[in-house]
Amino acid sequence: MNPPKHFAWSDRSLSPDERAEMVIKEMTLDEKIQLLHGLGWQAIFSQPECGPATRTISVLGFIPGIPRLGIPDLQMTDSNQGVSGAGVKGRYATAFPSGEAMASAWDTALSYEIGTQLGHEMRDMGFNMSLGSGINMIREPRDGRTFEYKGEDPLLAGTLAGSELKAEKALHLITDVKHYAVNDQDAGRIVVNSIISKRAMQESDLLAFQIALKDSGAGAVMCSYNKINGIYACENPYTLHDVLTKQFDFKGFVISDWGATQSTVKAAMAGLDVEMPGNDSFGAPLKKAVESGEVPMDRLNDMVRRVLRTEFDSGIVDDPPQPGSPDVMRGFAIAQKTEERGEVLLKNKGSVLPLHAASIQSIAVIGGHADVGVISGGGSSQVSPAGGNPVPPPPALLKDPLASFMLVQVYQRSAPLKGIEAKAPHAVVQFNSGSDPASAAALAGKSQVAIVFAVQHESEGMDLPNLSLPDHQDALIEAVAAANPRTIVVLETGGPVLMPWIDKVAAVVEAWYPGIRGSQAIANLLFGDVNPSGRLPLTFPRSEADLPHPIHLAPPKPDPGHPVPKLAGAPGMVGVMMGIGPFFDVHYDEGLKVGYKWYDAQKKAVLFPFGFGLSYTTFAYSGLTVKPGEPSTVSFTVSNTGSRAGVETAQVYASFPESAGEPPKRLVGWSKVELAPGESKQVSVSVDRDRLSIFNESSNAWELVPGKYVIRVGSSSRDLPLEKQIEF
Ligand code: BGC
Repeated sequence: MNPPKHFAWSDRSLSPDERAEMVIKEMTLDEKIQLLHGLGWQAIFSQPECGPATRTISVLGFIPGIPRLGIPDLQMTDSNQGVSGAGVKGRYATAFPSGEAMASAWDTALSYEIGTQLGHEMRDMGFNMSLGSGINMIREPRDGRTFEYKGEDPLLAGTLAGSELKAEKALHLITDVKHYAVNDQDAGRIVVNSIISKRAMQESDLLAFQIALKDSGAGAVMCSYNKINGIYACENPYTLHDVLTKQFDFKGFVISDWGATQSTVKAAMAGLDVEMPGNDSFGAPLKKAVESGEVPMDRLNDMVRRVLRTEFDSGIVDDPPQPGSPDVMRGFAIAQKTEERGEVLLKNKGSVLPLHAASIQSIAVIGGHADVGVISGGGSSQVSPAGGNPVPPPPALLKDPLASFMLVQVYQRSAPLKGIEAKAPHAVVQFNSGSDPASAAALAGKSQVAIVFAVQHESEGMDLPNLSLPDHQDALIEAVAAANPRTIVVLETGGPVLMPWIDKVAAVVEAWYPGIRGSQAIANLLFGDVNPSGRLPLTFPRSEADLPHPIHLAPPKPDPGHPVPKLAGAPGMVGVMMGIGPFFDVHYDEGLKVGYKWYDAQKKAVLFPFGFGLSYTTFAYSGLTVKPGEPSTVSFTVSNTGSRAGVETAQVYASFPESAGEPPKRLVGWSKVELAPGESKQVSVSVDRDRLSIFNESSNAWELVPGKYVIRVGSSSRDLPLEKQIEF
């Protein structure tokens, strides 16, 4: 290899801004423009033949660098729950549990470990920019990308994403937070106009980004497809300029979601820096706009500076990725740990769980293709299944690229049946596919325990028609439960589902999309090698009628059997994903009352509340003291009152003075506490002043409202035994 060329800006003692400035001075106009867009859809779909794309490692995201100035190519990959760009080039990547599973762990240290593994894998494959993490608020649980995101609370989602991306950045990658902003449904995502007040946006969706950016120093923000209050997110001066640049003081670059750039001058002047994956707006049209002065040279230089300073700041120039082989075993270990901490025990009547292998003679395992694998989510975050998809899709689906992108249900080869068999070597373990409820019930009836695996596929580009388990699985569960009172339901879902059978089954475990070690993690929970500690990052409502929007406005699901409308310049597949059709408004009148804040404000009962999750032991809370200040300190004692070791997620919520106009409570902090049986620990949670502030639209600033606050502490948003009033 030739030694790297030395340039004046190779001097690492200079700041990223100084280095960027030196490069800009040497650049031609064409070189500047080149850094601000991808190569176009055609380059993506016709590679590797076309031009510079032969250098690409990434199929979807590539920006050629400028070798004469030592500026590297940008090689991007999605990485929400694994390096999804790996598979397209035939490389292996760890299939992590879904974003919701990660969030259910409420574990910043674990998120850092996940980010570290993702970062290593990306570097091993030659990627230098990550297109994760997704942190859109789950205000619409039928959103087909719920599985990718991190729940319904901005503090939880922002903090966890911040930790994950901080780890990636520490490995010298450019990191990205998406999809900015209020992209809270995916069906019709390019024709939907999200209508929401500034305060509501600031205290929900935007806050999650603010926290993630502050904690991680992420270099990029991906603007979304939708409109916000009538203006596309990728050309919205409020969200891009006023909030991101000014209020958040973001120094990195804004990159459009794939095909979400709608204009040249408007977008560039509002704050979009990079068009992806193509050049329709930021290729020749941008050059023209600069030459005509519609986009001043200062702004062009600002766009280029943002990209370059991020390249220096992240370390991709000084420490480019070196090819290597992913550490598969470490990936397995972290994926399994994530699932073991993220799976949530929702019901456990009569302590039917954990199962005691020694005393069980027969187990029926039913449904969900549990004999071959665990389901995963579709779209750009889909990690290629090692060894291929064990559940072959109908051949017709594979003929259509749109269908394979969205509708094919991909299973990771980690069969729960095998994990269960390994735990109970002396029991007769039989599998029934569940396709015929009567035969499944017959097997359940003659088994000591019945474990039903219920799956729900979600994908980018389409929303769920409703929150019910698909394919008659409710009827299957009813039939099995009627035949065996010791029925345990393991859910592999992207988000919340309705459970009309909840009173008839003995136990329910939410395993989300469990990833490549799902089999082991689920079996470890079922047989008690792992004491469940996951807590819901989102509410499970009792019915769709209780949602803020009982009727979900969405264009119909694409049907691969019918012709597909085309978006100009893009293949038909892309057109449909984006939701061609008439524009429609979604009025987010619930505003900042996302998730539990809505159910609390409406005084609605829920199926399972935000923050909820059972353990095989029990915890008690006592001795709350609160020291108001900057930050305030909330101290209390958590005790393990049961007979086995466990981990509690102690949650701190605040109720605001009446005049603040807030929902009944807001999550302001949490702490994970590991306790031996009988052990008690003093816990202290710091609560920043910002967490107790509200966004004042008139002054355009966050403000603490003087008055009485109640700090509440406990094990879920609906179980808060300790409370103390403080005054500011
Ligand atoms: C998705 C993004 C993703 C991009 C590149 C888009 O369809 O919305 O999340 O990063 O594709 O794969």
